[in-house]
Amino acid sequence: MHALDHIDLGTPASASPEFVTLEIDGVTTTVSAGTSIMRAAAEIGTRIPKLCATDNLKAFGSCRVCLVEIDGRRGFPASCTTEVAAGMSVRTESARLQQLRRGVIELYVSDHPESLLGVDARPRTEIREVARSLGVSASPFGATVARHTDLPIDASNPYFSFDPNACIVCSRCVRACDEVQGTLALTIAGRGFESHVAASNGESFLESECVSCVACVEACPTTALTEKSLDAASPIDRSVTTTCAYCGVGCSLVAEVHKDAVVRMVPDRGGGANRGHACIKGRFAHGYAVHADRIRSPMIRRSIADPWRPVSWDEAIGYAASEFKRIQREHGRDSVGGITSSRCTNEEAYLVQKLVRAAFGNNNVDTCARVCHSPTGYGLKHTLGESAGTQAFTSVQHADVVMVIGANPTDAHPVFASQLKRRLRDGARLIVIDPRAIDLVQTPHSRAAYHLQLRPGTNVALLNALAHVIVTETLTKANFVAARCEAASYQQWLRFVSRPECSPESTADVTGVAAADIRDAARLYARANNGAIYYGLGVTEHSQGTTAVMAIANLAMATGNLGREGVGVNPLRGQNNVQGSCDVGSFPHELPGYRHISDSATRALFDADWGVTLLDEPGLRIPNMFEAALDGSFRGMYIQGEDMAQSDPNTQHIAAALSAMECVVVQDLFLNETALYAHVFLPGSSFLEKDGTFTNAERRISRVRKVMEPLAGLADWQITMALANALGYTMHYEHPSQIMAEIARLTPTFAGVTYEKLDRLGSIQWPCNAAAPDGTPTLHVDSFIRGKGRFYVTEYVGSSERVTARYPLLLTTGRILSQYNVGAQTRRTENLSWYAEDLLEINPHDAENRGIAPGDWVGIGSRAGETVLRADVTGRVPPGVVYTTFHFPDSGANVVTTDSSDWATNCPEYKVTAVQATKVSKPSEWQLRHRKLVAQQKQLATS
Ligand code: SF4
Ligand code: SF4
Ligand code: FES
Repeated sequence: MHALDHIDLGTPASASPEFVTLEIDGVTTTVSAGTSIMRAAAEIGTRIPKLCATDNLKAFGSCRVCLVEIDGRRGFPASCTTEVAAGMSVRTESARLQQLRRGVIELYVSDHPESLLGVDARPRTEIREVARSLGVSASPFGATVARHTDLPIDASNPYFSFDPNACIVCSRCVRACDEVQGTLALTIAGRGFESHVAASNGESFLESECVSCVACVEACPTTALTEKSLDAASPIDRSVTTTCAYCGVGCSLVAEVHKDAVVRMVPDRGGGANRGHACIKGRFAHGYAVHADRIRSPMIRRSIADPWRPVSWDEAIGYAASEFKRIQREHGRDSVGGITSSRCTNEEAYLVQKLVRAAFGNNNVDTCARVCHSPTGYGLKHTLGESAGTQAFTSVQHADVVMVIGANPTDAHPVFASQLKRRLRDGARLIVIDPRAIDLVQTPHSRAAYHLQLRPGTNVALLNALAHVIVTETLTKANFVAARCEAASYQQWLRFVSRPECSPESTADVTGVAAADIRDAARLYARANNGAIYYGLGVTEHSQGTTAVMAIANLAMATGNLGREGVGVNPLRGQNNVQGSCDVGSFPHELPGYRHISDSATRALFDADWGVTLLDEPGLRIPNMFEAALDGSFRGMYIQGEDMAQSDPNTQHIAAALSAMECVVVQDLFLNETALYAHVFLPGSSFLEKDGTFTNAERRISRVRKVMEPLAGLADWQITMALANALGYTMHYEHPSQIMAEIARLTPTFAGVTYEKLDRLGSIQWPCNAAAPDGTPTLHVDSFIRGKGRFYVTEYVGSSERVTARYPLLLTTGRILSQYNVGAQTRRTENLSWYAEDLLEINPHDAENRGIAPGDWVGIGSRAGETVLRADVTGRVPPGVVYTTFHFPDSGANVVTTDSSDWATNCPEYKVTAVQATKVSKPSEWQLRHRKLVAQQKQLATS
């Protein structure tokens, strides 16, 4: 479907519960009060011509194309800005209306290159379609009144261009930037005939505040704002609705395709998570899928010092299977394991854990959630009863107070950030708890009521202080707690948080946050009609990650902020399918649906279905696998799409463990950092090359649909199936829908999920079963999934990563909008135009003390290792804190992070590393060694 074929109803829906009956062209219709005439007409199939209106923006009423006649009213009101009224009688067509509309369009056309109006003009535009519907194909004024031709085309942005010559100054782009994205990068500058669209303060689009979400391009009814990929040589042959493969927002995207190539990605207006919006990554950063670096043939080698040898699929799979069997024969059943990918589909992650449990015969399976949100799974399961966020994203529109803890949505979850900003513009109050001044602290529309800028590693102390205020000032919701929570655990928690040691005053020295601010923020959250908490890796990636998640759940239960719209505990999950990979059994202690491996009834179900006898003991977690590799008891690893050598902490430790193994099988798109240590490389498939499902942070299961054939011949699920068969365990699936049918058969929370239902409903939030056949947007509505909510005592224990004279700064890490995670995908796109290297943010005070100027090379050393990055001297970080991203392998941010980890889940403490920063002039020893290794391995791959 072409984007223009979407039925645009012209103006947003009205939320009014009242109804109004009117007549349009003699047809009686009933709509919500507050609906525009344009929308009411569109809903009964009557299309009124329009230019400045579109149904995801408030009506503006500037173009005057949409005029109608209303009985008893003088003149010709604009149908987009005129609301329906009871008994109204509207005419949308008459000779006079036709004449007026033609006159308006002729004026617009006079300001528009005629070549863009021709029958064959590409791309299709709304202005062309409206002009043609009114019989206008050229301006009666000729080319004499063109107004904008003297302004140059702005082609600075690699993905889209702005041609002022084709602009009709309808303001749709400006309104889209404001209302949909919430960035306000665009304005209409000048007046009258001189008026024109300008980015920021007249800067180029690339240099401006524009975040390249291209809501403006999506809104533009002409070719003034156009994606560069839409050249005339690439007509769209077909379109395929699929799901973004980047972050946990899980935007639904429509891939518009020419032959086998994606011409562009358009956000799907029917997308449950994104409602027609997307960010620069989902929109544009898909070129990696056909990048020259893609490996298209399986490869093997006996030793990592040998050259890679391209081989057939049969030989590669056969070699991997024989090596795993040999290792198990020689070193025991538990000497091998596997890693599922949170970038792959649910079906693919499910097959890998099935292979490990059924074909390897052990439970040594884990996933990257180990290093990001495993504390969320553990903490929410124990307190509320389910390892997942409680709300749909739309819920935020009902929140009065939003607390964002350790998350940076504008960079890491941009489409959710836009929804949140919309709610903030409409009056919700915001509390930000973060060591950095993230963008949300001050947006063009709003300022956070409180920014509690705590020291890294002190979340639990701060959360306890918030709880102390709520409890001691009797701001708890007693009725909710009495009805819904365990009384004994609540009493124990009350006694704990009431202690003076938990008070804001007592903890201020630890957290660095003024007690008065904590008190005010606690009151704001607790007194809200609806208070919602959103949190990210700044909560989980700590030695007390699980404790902090439990403290958050405690706060929400104590204030009654669970079980309805506008409230909740919402982990913003990182990878596109990290929720899903956990759901389908990627943890060593849990079968699909978070059922413990020690539960004999659950095991019996899987034993019968899979024809095996499962072990009843949890297997090794990722850090245990690496430890075991170093002690010689773990020697083979099947890694589906995870670059552990770059993403896991303490790089040198990981490299030593990988080097100690005898068979490392990497299944990926590229020869990544982990492949430097691999013996078998199985070329994987991108999200464009397969069918399946992803599950986003709202538990929303969405379809991934194949756009093109796998470049290397097999989709990831087919590779895993082949490996299982070669290992002697039979797997046979013709299509991923059969794998989903098996997951549904064996997992109560997925029991009602089918591809047919997903196609029909668009997406489904689990649980989906007989009790909730269409899914469950909000969890814990009448009672908690575990029955009664359970409070946990959350004693604060300081991180072992403390500042010392040797390491006087705290390093914390995070993400940037244009790059993604280890950067394997985004580094292979034009997104490099915005961010081409990891930078070290350092406060001006700390920089001056060290003689560091912006752009200087800075050595960052910790007890784990040292690396060198360029300095970004900025007040975004407070004195004593430095910050970097980890998108580029050569930066080696994880050379510095340590293996300190969460007490319950082993999630690494990425967010707190004690470091020293010094001005240097050359790369670190590690960087020099790493560069040499990369060069050698490159040669081995091509020789
Ligand atoms: S660039 Fe497009 S959307 Fe923006 S004012 Fe011009 S015609 Fe309208
Ligand atoms: S917000 Fe996340 S899911 Fe949506 S387009 Fe951006 S990266 Fe993709
Ligand atoms: S569409 Fe109604 S005035 Fe432009």
